[in-house]
Amino acid sequence: MKITVIGSGYVGLVTGTCLAEYGNDVVCLDVDANKIRILQEGGVPIFEPGLEEMIKRNVSAGRLRFTTDIKESVEHGTIQFIAVGTPPDEDGSADLKYVVAAARSIGRYMHGYKVIVDKSTVPVGTGDKVRAAISDELAQRGEQTSFAIVSNPEFLKEGAAIEDFMRPDRIVIGTDDDTAKDLMNSLYAPFVRNHDRILFMDVRSAEMTKYAANAMLATRISFMNELANLSEVMGADIELVRKGIGSDPRIGYHFLYPGVGYGGSCFPKDVQALQRTANEHGISLKVLDAVEKANQAQKSVLVDKIVKRFGNDLKGKHFALWGLAFKPNTDDMRDAPSRVIIEYLLSHGATVAAHDPVAIHEAQRVMPDWQGLSYADSPMAVLPDADALVIVTEWKAFRSPDFADVKTQLKNPLIFDGRNLYDPKKMEIAGFEYYPIGRQQVTR
Ligand code: NAD
Ligand code: UDX
Repeated sequence: MKITVIGSGYVGLVTGTCLAEYGNDVVCLDVDANKIRILQEGGVPIFEPGLEEMIKRNVSAGRLRFTTDIKESVEHGTIQFIAVGTPPDEDGSADLKYVVAAARSIGRYMHGYKVIVDKSTVPVGTGDKVRAAISDELAQRGEQTSFAIVSNPEFLKEGAAIEDFMRPDRIVIGTDDDTAKDLMNSLYAPFVRNHDRILFMDVRSAEMTKYAANAMLATRISFMNELANLSEVMGADIELVRKGIGSDPRIGYHFLYPGVGYGGSCFPKDVQALQRTANEHGISLKVLDAVEKANQAQKSVLVDKIVKRFGNDLKGKHFALWGLAFKPNTDDMRDAPSRVIIEYLLSHGATVAAHDPVAIHEAQRVMPDWQGLSYADSPMAVLPDADALVIVTEWKAFRSPDFADVKTQLKNPLIFDGRNLYDPKKMEIAGFEYYPIGRQQVTR
C-alpha cells in the first residue's frame, strides 16, 4: 500500500518504518528540514533501539524515503497518517495547530479518495476538526473528492517502540467509513496474529481510548508512589507489597513501579489535556486531579530526602547523578524528572555532575548553560568528590556497579536511589548510607 506519514518524530518515524518493514511503500514528511536532511543522509535524529537498522534496511529496499515536499508526499499515499506533535497549550489543553496544519496540507494537495488517519493523541472531537479543515481546503479549490477520517491512536512506549509497534496488544481503529475500515484491516493484518486484536469503533471512542489508557496508567503509578511513601514511614517494603498485589491477576504486575514521578512526552500532557476537556464540559475528574498533584509532589521525593540529610543550604555540596532521560532506552528529556531535581540542587547552591548513556546531548539542548551542571560519558567518571550519588533513571548499566569502586570514588558512601535498584540490606553490609523509595532507609 502507498502510505504517507506526516510528522517524522518518535511516532511518525517508527510508524513509517514499521509499515515499510511489511512491504508498504512509505514516504515520511516533516517540516523540520534538518531532521529530514539527517534521515536522507542515513542518520536517525532520535535514539530508539532497533530503529536505525530497520530504517537502513527499508531505505535500501526502496520502500522508505523522507521528504519536506508536502505536495509530493500528499500525492503519494492513499493512506495519510498524521503523526505531528500535540503539545500542551498554556492552559494544559492539547494544542491542535500542527494537526490542523497537517490536515490543511492534505486538503490543499489531494486528488482522489484518501484515508486520513490521525495517529497523534488528540481530544475527542478532533476528527471533526480535521474533516472540516480538509473540506474547507477542497472547497477553496473547487475540488470534489471524497475522503475518510480514521482515528488510530498509538500506544507505543519509547525505548520499546519497535517491539510495541510490531507486536501490539491491540490496534484501535475508529471510523464510520467501510472502505477505510477494509484498508486499515489489510494494512495491520501482518502485525496481529489474532484479528480480534484489531478493535473497530467510532472515531470519538477511539480518541477517548488513548487518553483513558494513559490516564489509567498514570493513576496506577501515582497511587503506587503514594503507597511507597506510606510504606516507608510504616516500615513496610513497597517492593514486597508490589509483588504481593501484582500477583492478583485483577491487578497485574505492569506499571506498579514506584519512583520519582512519571515524566515523558505523554503522561503529563495527556493527563492535563483530559482534565481540561472535562473542565470545558463542566466535569471535574477528581481522581485525575489527585493523580497530577501526587505526581508533582513525587518529583521532589529525592530532593526531600537530600534536604533531610544535608539541610536546605546545599552550598558547596557536589552531587553525582545517574540518568537524565525520563526513562531508560531513550534520549527523550521531555518532562524528565531529572530536570526538576537538577534545578533544585543547583538553585540551592550545589553542583551536579551527570551521566546518561544516551541523553547527554539532549540534556545539553534543554538545559543550556546551567551553571554548576557538568556531564561525563561514563557512570564512574561523575563520582569523584561527590557528596552523594543520586539515581534518577533505571538504565541497565546502573544495576550492578562495582560497589567497592563506587565507595572509593565518592566522597561519602551515600546513595539516593529514585528507582529502587539495589537491596537495602546488601547496601548496609557494603557500608553505604542508602535512601530508596518506599523501602528501608539505611541511615548513618
Ligand atoms: P515529535 O515532536 O517527536 O514529532 C512530531 C514531528 O511532527 C516533528 O518532527 C515536527 O517537526 C513534525 N511536524 C509538525 N508539524 C508538521 C506539519 N504540519 N507537517 C509535517 N510535519 C510536522 O512528537 P511525537 O513524540 O512523535 O508525538 C507525536 C504525537 O503522537 C503526539 O500527539 C503524541 O502525544 C503522540 N504519541 C507519542 C508517543 C511517544 O511515545 N512519543 C506515543 C504515543 C502517542
Ligand atoms: C507512555 C505509554 O506507556 C504509551 O502507551 C503511550 O503510547 C505513550 O506514553 P512512554 O511515555 O514512552 O509511554 O513511557 P512509559 O514506559 O509509559 O513511562 C512513562 C513514565 O512513567 C516514565 O517517566 C516512567 O519512569 C514512569 N513509570 C512507568 C513509573 O514511574 N513506574 C512504572 O511502573 C512505569
